[in-house]
Amino acid sequence: MQDNITPILEASLNAISKSQNLAELKEVEVKYLGRSGQITELLKSLKDLSPEEKRTTGQAIQNLKNDFSNSYQPKFQQLQKAEIDAKLTSEFFDLTLSEINPSRSLDKGTIHPLSQLQQEIEQTFSEMGFEIADGPEVESEYYNFEALNVPAHHPARDMQDTFFIDHPKDPKQGHLLLRTQTSPVQIRSMEKYGTPLRLIIPGRVFRYEATDATHDSTFNQVEGLLIDKNIGLAHFKGIMTEFLSRFFQHEITTRFRPGYFPFVEPGIELDILWKKGQNGQPDKWMECMGAGMVHPNVLKAGGLDPDVHQGWAFGFGLTRLAMLKYGIDDIRNLHANDLRFLKQF
Ligand code: FA5
Repeated sequence: MQDNITPILEASLNAISKSQNLAELKEVEVKYLGRSGQITELLKSLKDLSPEEKRTTGQAIQNLKNDFSNSYQPKFQQLQKAEIDAKLTSEFFDLTLSEINPSRSLDKGTIHPLSQLQQEIEQTFSEMGFEIADGPEVESEYYNFEALNVPAHHPARDMQDTFFIDHPKDPKQGHLLLRTQTSPVQIRSMEKYGTPLRLIIPGRVFRYEATDATHDSTFNQVEGLLIDKNIGLAHFKGIMTEFLSRFFQHEITTRFRPGYFPFVEPGIELDILWKKGQNGQPDKWMECMGAGMVHPNVLKAGGLDPDVHQGWAFGFGLTRLAMLKYGIDDIRNLHANDLRFLKQF
C-alpha cells in the first residue's frame, strides 16, 4: 500500500496546481477526499493491515493528507480572490451616485399631518387606558342614525346632510350611506365588546355640504366612549383637559356650552378660541367637539341596561384640531394633496 501513496500524492498535488477555478478545485477535493476518494479509500483499507503496518502506513497516509491540505488551502484562497476580483470589475457600482451625493438625493415621503396627529392622539389615549376601535365608512341608516336615537323623519337627521349609496334598502338596516360621524361605532362596540368600555375611534366621515375655510365634505373625527358604573361628566372633563393640554402643549382658551345631540343627555359642545389675530382678523370661537352622557335609548340599542351602566361619549373634529395646532387657515388644504403644503409637517 505504501507504494500507492507517492503516486497519489504527486497526482493530487499536480491536479491542485492545474485547477483554473474553484469548481475544478472542488472536483479535485472530491476525487481525493470525497466519500469514495482515493485518500479516503486508502484510509478504509487500513483495517486489513497488521498492527505494525497500520502504524507506519497510517502515519504515511496522514502525511499525505497534510501535504494535500497544505497545497489545497493556498490554492483555494488564490482562486477565491481571483473570482471576487473578477466580479468586482464586471459589476462596477458607482458609490457616488447614491444618496450621499446631494445632486441625486432620494425624495423621501412624509407621514400626512392628519395621520401624525392621529397616531399622537392614539398614543395619548392608550396611556390613559383607552383601546382603539374601528368601524366601516359605508354604514347603514340603522347604525348611523336609528340606533343613535335618531329615528326616520326626526328633524335631527337634517343636522348632518348625508351621501346615500344607490343600493336596495334593507328592511332592518335601511339604506346604505357614507357615515356622517364616527358615533355608529359606539353601538357596534357595545354589541361586540359589552362592558366596561374605554375606547377611542378615529375615522373619516362624510357630509354632503358646501365647503368653506372650516367645513369640508370629507373630514376626520375621533370618537370617545367610556361606559362603566357610576360614571359622570366630571370624569369626562378631567380626561378632556388632560388630553387637550398634551395635544396643544401650550395654553388654549376653551368654552364648554350646552349642545343638542339626540344620542346624549345632557349634551355639551366644546369650542376653542381660534387666534386669527396674526392675520389681522378678529379671534373667533371654533366648534371642535360634541359630547355628553350617553342617552339611555342608545345604551339599550347597544344591548345594555341603562339602570346598571352609564357612560359618556365625545366626537371631535380632528381636522379642526389640526388647523388650530398648526395655525392652518383653510381646512381644505389638509385634503388638497399639495406636496408643497404637506412637506411642512
Ligand atoms: C357629531 O358628529 C357628533 N357625532 C359628535 C358627538 C359624539 C356628540 C358623541 C356627542 C357624543 P358634529 O356634527 O357637531 O357632531 O361634529 C363634531 C365635530 O366635527 C365638530 O365639533 C367639528 O369639529 C367637526 N365638524 C363638523 N362638521 C365639519 C365639517 N364639515 N368639516 C370639518 N369638521 C367638521
